[in-house]
Amino acid sequence: MKKISLTGIKPTGDLHIGNYFGAIKPALELAKEYDARYFIADYHALNTVKDPKELNLCIRQVAAGWLASGLDPDKVIFYRQSSIPEVFELATMLMAFTAKGLMNRAHAYKAAVQENSEKGDDTDAGINMGLFTYPVLMAADIIIFDSDIVPVGKDQVQHIEMAQDMAQSVNANYKQQVLKVPQAGVQEDSAVIPGLDGRKMSKSYGNIIPLFENEKTLRKTIMRITTNSQTVEEPKNPDESQIFMLYKLFADADEQAALASRYRAGGMGWGEAKEELFRVVNRTLSPIREKYDAIMADIPSLDKILAQGAEKARPIASATVKRFRKAAGVD
Ligand code: ADP
Ligand code: TRP
Repeated sequence: MKKISLTGIKPTGDLHIGNYFGAIKPALELAKEYDARYFIADYHALNTVKDPKELNLCIRQVAAGWLASGLDPDKVIFYRQSSIPEVFELATMLMAFTAKGLMNRAHAYKAAVQENSEKGDDTDAGINMGLFTYPVLMAADIIIFDSDIVPVGKDQVQHIEMAQDMAQSVNANYKQQVLKVPQAGVQEDSAVIPGLDGRKMSKSYGNIIPLFENEKTLRKTIMRITTNSQTVEEPKNPDESQIFMLYKLFADADEQAALASRYRAGGMGWGEAKEELFRVVNRTLSPIREKYDAIMADIPSLDKILAQGAEKARPIASATVKRFRKAAGVD
């Protein structure tokens, strides 16, 4: 039997280069040899996106992003999380096997508490139960499809470890392998893609290079990358430059070697390095952008693809819940 790869992306904003190299591209590589299940994590997005129009649009944008990047819905089961109610049943069951202390340690929750205390606010201000229990729902997303490997960026590894913890607690309690224990699949070379300001590229930092912006905006965004005050003449170290780090993702080996020696030789300013980066980024993204625009122009077809995916997914999800219910004595 083929192993199973599963991942999801929250529809909370524009897809960016970090999502593409950290999650979408490795996931599509894995889909060549694994049985793949990829989804839009729309109920996860509900924790933060409260505007219905915005959420509705964002769900389609993320779905179109997957398809434009090359996901083949005939080979990959591709669906919306909200179309699989079994996920929420499993999440409830997993709650009974999840220590509250484990949730207290989750990065996203801890960061929100920390931010509140720095501001002098009540530590729980603005934190909803969706955020607090986020790792349980994510574990259900993963475990329900008997996933072996979960391709994600480094920031998500803690969540996968929590899913392992929950699956192991269930298996230990019933003294049988009720649930499969998943593994994280992190690609070291794209584990953390830097953003415009050098921090991790993230919607929440406002430092993203979006995947599907038009050429003009893409160029403008790349020109905004923060640089140091080295002069044009000064030799520069490519390995310390986030422009070069991004360049490596898009350029072939010869192009990388050529630009690295121009950095080291001096005589090239940051503006020129950014132009070179824009050239290779745009070369890769323009065909994907065209496909994306075509998909977004036909939402009914897109929705049909997602509905067909959900139809394929539900029997698998239902079998996992049934197995767990039987083991638990609630069958
Ligand atoms: P954001 O941080 O912009 O909100 P998400 O949390 O929605 O992004 O991430 C969706 C997927 O993309 C996850 O698998 C995540 O690990 C990956 N990802 C996001 N940003 C990056 C990044 N800068 N580098 C590598 N992977 C990333
Ligand atoms: N938590 C992930 C993120 O913020 C999205 C996600 C939800 C996910 N459920 C998942 C990723 C299951 C992998 C598997 O990006």
